Amino acid sequence: MDPATVKACCAAAYSHDAVAVLLGDSYHPGGLALTRRLADQLKLRPGQRVADVACGPGTTARLLAAEYGVSVDGVDLNPSTVDTPGVRFHPGDAEQIPLPSNAFDALVCECAFCTFPDKQAAAAEFARLLRPGGRLGLTDITITRHLTTELTGLAGWIACLADARPVSAYAGLLSDAGLCITHRESHDAAISRMLDQIEARLTLLRIAGADWLDAARLDPAAVARHLDLARRAVADGTIGYTLLVAEKS
Ligand SMILES: C[S@@+](CC[C@H](N)C(=O)[O-])C[C@H]1O[C@@H](n2cnc3c(N)ncnc32)[C@H](O)[C@@H]1O
Repeated sequence: MDPATVKACCAAAYSHDAVAVLLGDSYHPGGLALTRRLADQLKLRPGQRVADVACGPGTTARLLAAEYGVSVDGVDLNPSTVDTPGVRFHPGDAEQIPLPSNAFDALVCECAFCTFPDKQAAAAEFARLLRPGGRLGLTDITITRHLTTELTGLAGWIACLADARPVSAYAGLLSDAGLCITHRESHDAAISRMLDQIEARLTLLRIAGADWLDAARLDPAAVARHLDLARRAVADGTIGYTLLVAEKS
């Protein structure tokens, strides 16, 4: 798939109403609890300026503004989110971010770096936006070995996770861009909890009637099969979830 198609596919997948119903407000493993953990690791202080790259529905941007008193610029390929106090949204590409250089105290990117076709360009953009001493907080899907064809199909279904990398590869890309890793945590169990949540919501939807599922073009049997595959990949350590903090020197 060429890069433009990957981006279009990913943006379209995450703008689907079914995603909001199945995932809730936060489109990443760990939900708001992991977002708060990331914000704490970034040591955010009121008045600071933060960029949220690939901000999705804007839940993180609003949380950071409301709970940490920072001002947030959110960027996503999908232009659907709306401005709220302390938060401004900008339609844009993570590989060419429409925001100024050396202007941000912190930058967050949750569950999206793995989807960018040109990770080197995105990492360079992160470094460009941050002021010297500014911090990047990233959470993302990791892999420990190449995904089997079965799992690549699954990855495509989850929407463009097929380009997830080992944590060492993410660290290498960030460090090549001038961002030095200062902290790392594993949150693999967060993926399992997210899969459980999706399954529970699907069960409720089935009970509510198949009409809604038909409208959302979701095949419950296929979803259940994919959930099972994903659970096994987490259990055998193939897929994980990581939190990284890096500082611009
Ligand atoms: C898994 S969702 C995560 C959204 C949000 N960060 C969150 O955790 O709730 C991935 C997001 O990345 C966005 N995205 C994918 N590729 C992008 C790109 N090249 N530039 C900007 N946004 C992108 C998608 O539109 C989607 O909103």
